[in-house]
Amino acid sequence: MSDFDRVIERRGTHATKWDMMAKLSGINAADGIPMWVADMDFAAPPGVTQALAAVVERGVHGYYADNGSWAAALADWLARRHGLSIDPEWVSPTPGVVSGLGLILQAVSEPGDEVVVFPPAYHAFRKIILANERRILDAQLVERQGRYVMDLDALRAMLTPRTKVVFFCSPHNPGGTVWSADEIKALAGFCTEHDLILVSDEIHCDLVLDSAKHIPTIAAAPEVADRLITCVAATKTFNLAGAHVGACVTSNPELKRKLDARIAASGLGSYAAFGMIATEAAWRTGDAWLDELLPYLAGNRDLLDSRIEAAAPGARSMRLDATYLAWVNFSGTGLKAEDVAKRVSERARIFVSPGAQFGPGGETWLRFNFATPRPILREALDRLDDAFRDLRG
Ligand SMILES: Cc1ncc(COP(=O)(O)O)c(C=O)c1O
Repeated sequence: MSDFDRVIERRGTHATKWDMMAKLSGINAADGIPMWVADMDFAAPPGVTQALAAVVERGVHGYYADNGSWAAALADWLARRHGLSIDPEWVSPTPGVVSGLGLILQAVSEPGDEVVVFPPAYHAFRKIILANERRILDAQLVERQGRYVMDLDALRAMLTPRTKVVFFCSPHNPGGTVWSADEIKALAGFCTEHDLILVSDEIHCDLVLDSAKHIPTIAAAPEVADRLITCVAATKTFNLAGAHVGACVTSNPELKRKLDARIAASGLGSYAAFGMIATEAAWRTGDAWLDELLPYLAGNRDLLDSRIEAAAPGARSMRLDATYLAWVNFSGTGLKAEDVAKRVSERARIFVSPGAQFGPGGETWLRFNFATPRPILREALDRLDDAFRDLRG
């Protein structure tokens, strides 16, 4: 049994989430609580710790030999957890999903080309597009019955001959949307119709809550396989972000050849041993740990949703079907976004992700990472209760 209630001190351990908080947020209080970047305050599955301990014990840290076991472990995991059959030959490891996105852009587009993003969307999409001198084409998500939907007709009207790639986030961050097979099929058909490369970032695919079910894009729309690259990783699922390894998967050999050429051109064809060993161990041994984690996260989500809506009348948390990133709209409180942000950072001493970071449509929202032991979450919620007390009359 994993003890997700156990508080592990992370301050002073090179933990971005905790140790970069003061610098990035200006929250200098010793008791600041970080609820921003997407990693969890939980220990990794025991099988990962054992695999890494064996490496440390041996004490020799030479180059990593990729004998195919890593991609095979990923293929086994996808088969076991998602009923998906992939050929390990389709897999290219990259130093994380975001670096994979950059390499994909370099492989399939030119500077000045446009990349479709569905905002509010994971902010690193925007950064990697701009860093690669491509342009962002924002296809605004629409909120319908408490969840996001894509408006492909609006997108169609915006396309230009320079639109080349679509960054699709499935499940979606933020908002935790688990897309239906019909929605994925419609997007895939759109990409075929307009000759676009579809990049399906499925890094959150294992963090699906309650009875929701993630459908891999390749399973919902196999007809799009030739123009599809799927990005996956063990790092979100098992809290191994520091391992910095992800995978790009495509069944199109020509697309894979182009991507592998960019990987080679950047000298990334040799992999970090600690990351490969940790993530392979996670896929091979992490099932039971994940099965215990998911209900714990669902419990945290329910606690946060109910308490935040009670603390700040008019605030509304989007019901998450996936991820541990609560997405809360404060527009109904009547407060200005800056006032809300100040209450959270100054009164509650909590560092959250500002909604504006996720692009158009995020301005009145805040994203709260609730993947933390319940004692920390409760403390954060008590402080938020205080921070908005005057609103409750
Ligand atoms: C949708 C999405 N893609 C990618 C990443 C990060 O991937 P990596 O750390 O492997 O670059 C995140 C992290 O939050 C994410 O939410």
